[in-house]
Amino acid sequence: MTKYHAMREVPATAGFKKGDVLFLCGELFGRGYANGIIDEARAKGMTIIGATVGRRDSDGTLRPLNAEELAAAEANLGGKIINIPLEAGFDMEPGKDGVTPCDRLKGVKPDEWASVKLDPAEVDFSRKTGTKRFRDNLAAVVKELSALLPSKADLLVVHTMAGGIPRARVFMPILNKLFKGQGDRFLASEPFWNSDLGQLCALSFNEVTADTLGYLIESTASLREKHDVRYAAYGYHGCEVMVNGEFVWQSYTPYLQGWAKIRLEEIATAAWDNGIKATVYNCPEILTNSSALFLGVENSLYPLLSALKQEGVDSVVDECQSLLKEGSTTGDLVKIATDYLVNPLITSTRDYDSWPQHNSPAQQEYMLNVSAELISLNADPKEIVCAVLSRAVFVGVGRLMFNSSWNPQAPVFWLNHDVIAKALAGI
Ligand SMILES: NC(=O)c1ccc[n+]([C@@H]2O[C@H](COP(=O)([O-])OP(=O)(O)OC[C@H]3O[C@@H](n4cnc5c(N)ncnc54)[C@H](O)[C@@H]3O)[C@@H](O)[C@H]2O)c1
Repeated sequence: MTKYHAMREVPATAGFKKGDVLFLCGELFGRGYANGIIDEARAKGMTIIGATVGRRDSDGTLRPLNAEELAAAEANLGGKIINIPLEAGFDMEPGKDGVTPCDRLKGVKPDEWASVKLDPAEVDFSRKTGTKRFRDNLAAVVKELSALLPSKADLLVVHTMAGGIPRARVFMPILNKLFKGQGDRFLASEPFWNSDLGQLCALSFNEVTADTLGYLIESTASLREKHDVRYAAYGYHGCEVMVNGEFVWQSYTPYLQGWAKIRLEEIATAAWDNGIKATVYNCPEILTNSSALFLGVENSLYPLLSALKQEGVDSVVDECQSLLKEGSTTGDLVKIATDYLVNPLITSTRDYDSWPQHNSPAQQEYMLNVSAELISLNADPKEIVCAVLSRAVFVGVGRLMFNSSWNPQAPVFWLNHDVIAKALAGI
């Protein structure tokens, strides 16, 4: 288990300059974490180069972006995209028998999840094929990237990839129950995780969320011979938020990507031990395209309001207040979130050493009810406080990661609400 290591002070301003390059490994979405660090790099005049996961045609073939998709993605990124598909994972890779993991699950009904049996040898064959495809494509991407790097440029490689839910139809209803189910619709994460379907997810999460960082570090070895290269990746391993005036470590349950995120930390630590500047930055819970499935993950975002007040970042607090229903205040949000964070249903399983924890019916029901109560305080369900706070977090995290990456001090850092509020106070 990685030793807990929080960043407490805002790092000095980075010396990256015009001509240096930020390479984003993963696609950029409107509210995704990577926006923060890209804006920092752009403000310094750095060149931004991006990647794509590619797209699947209706027959399942993985292809690069077409001209229209490429133009839209480059406009969104504000930089060139190396158009070679970097989809990770193996859910659509044939096994030895020609059948993909997704196709093996065709016709399986959601309530049959416990009885599904998958041949580990076939799954492993698909996994190895997926890894080979990813690494071959990554090698081609790195070749293009190398040709684009000015001779004296420093390179900041940003890893933002996470995911890997197999795209078989059966998973969506199962995951909805796992993360959002209450009463009859509740599904316990522990037996699911130990089932063959759960273990397929585990392998896929490891591949997409963690091992891609290892492949990225390996495939860019030649770049390290000619350039100063730093690697920064987004992790999650709980987060400290302000509870009754003190910063307290807490986490979202059930976070099934947690084991893959620990593996990501281990990959950065192993690289660091070999003299490579690779750092995983563990970040707070926010709402993005990827986290939208995990209702309740945002309950611990509201205490950021307290940290922002403490650091005098009033503009964000005022903006949140303006989105609330008449008669509601940001103080109400903090009170409800605080009650949640000190409730025994939430604290009884809070334990760093045995993280990540599985769900229980009472804990999940309480988490979802608090989530609904907090969201109901917004005047307009389409313009919510969580979006403003999420943006503040990715801006603050972007600034911290960018500046810390100039002279990185460790393979794993936690960026908690305290230091993020401090970073925002300096903007
Ligand atoms: N949202 C949160 O609460 C939160 C908290 C801590 C850390 N993070 C981490 O931040 C990073 C960015 O996530 P985000 O929440 O901003 O969401 P996002 O949806 O904006 O980003 C997810 C990224 O994963 C990539 N990706 C997804 N499936 C992939 C696949 N099969 N192969 C290759 N790439 C794939 C996408 O292209 C995208 O770049 C992730 O590592 C995530 O785990 C998120």
